[in-house]
Amino acid sequence: MTPPVTMRQIAERAEVSIGTVSHVINGTAKVREKLRLRVLEAIRSLGYQPSQLARGLRRNQTSMLGMIIPDITNPFFPAVVRGVEDVAYKRSYRIVLCNTDNDPSKEISYLNELRSYRPAGLLVIPAAESDIAAQLKSFAASGPPVVCIDRRPLGWKGDVVLVANEAGACNATRHLLRMGHRHLGVITGPMHLTNAEERLKGFRQALEEAKVAIEPEFVQEARFDRRSGYEAAMRLLRMLPRPTAIFACNDLMALGVFLAARELHIRCPEELSIIGFDNLDFAEFTAPALSTVHQPGYQLGATAARLLVERIDGREGAFQKIVLPTELKIRSSVVAPPQGTAPRKRASAR
Ligand code: RIB
Repeated sequence: MTPPVTMRQIAERAEVSIGTVSHVINGTAKVREKLRLRVLEAIRSLGYQPSQLARGLRRNQTSMLGMIIPDITNPFFPAVVRGVEDVAYKRSYRIVLCNTDNDPSKEISYLNELRSYRPAGLLVIPAAESDIAAQLKSFAASGPPVVCIDRRPLGWKGDVVLVANEAGACNATRHLLRMGHRHLGVITGPMHLTNAEERLKGFRQALEEAKVAIEPEFVQEARFDRRSGYEAAMRLLRMLPRPTAIFACNDLMALGVFLAARELHIRCPEELSIIGFDNLDFAEFTAPALSTVHQPGYQLGATAARLLVERIDGREGAFQKIVLPTELKIRSSVVAPPQGTAPRKRASAR
């Protein structure tokens, strides 16, 4: 294996000082165009590859962005990562992606390990049960800026980019009410997460506006994945009376509702309406096509990365809370409730 090309060899080939070569490579000072071109030609002809590690040690910072996400198997998160990557690439940053599988201890060990990589900045979508605000504050205090995405860690006062969860959930629930449903079930994400809490709040707000009572047991907590959505739906659909419509607070849980309804021979949408949240690619291909709330995953990531790069470039000023809009996508999984089959009144009317 041929030894790596050194700056000294470039300097000799270009007939300039090593300092001039270093300035050209690291952009640390202006160099006369004639000399700069000689250095670039020497780099090309010698096939020099700058050492990112050496550059990182010199600057005590690499051109790397750390990104922590909670569940790489959930199709929502790759769209967010793609938005980050497009912005980072244009600014010559590279991403180190860490998937926590919603495991708070794994999240902490990743955070500690990333610190040793001297990243230029950090983007975090916190895990379901994580309590990471204090560690993020100390991470940011040691230098690299931090931006949280999609879920605001409890106690985090720094930069954050979210979507309008409450408004989106309220609009989804209003759609069910407009179609005539009065016995609505909801399957939430983990209530430790701010976005799960906000979506349930939006659901309740729409019911209050319409003066529709909510049966407490029709509120079921799950974990933003298909399995827990299925289990929550089985509980709801085995109740008597059962809901005539279910709002699943993300599309993977809505898939679980479809599976539970099929297993219990409950026809959707004729006997059960279903609405989700995320608008993942598969939403328009389910049978029936899933009505849901579109949240701009790619834009979430791109907006967060732009904010982070501005902070790396030295932008001061108050921390930002950026909230992106959501959009109701009406498809065919929601229809009017079956007529003449109003669920039997319960003994203790609420
Ligand atoms: O589908 C995963 C959910 O968790 C999405 O709704 C997104 O908001 C993330 O927080």
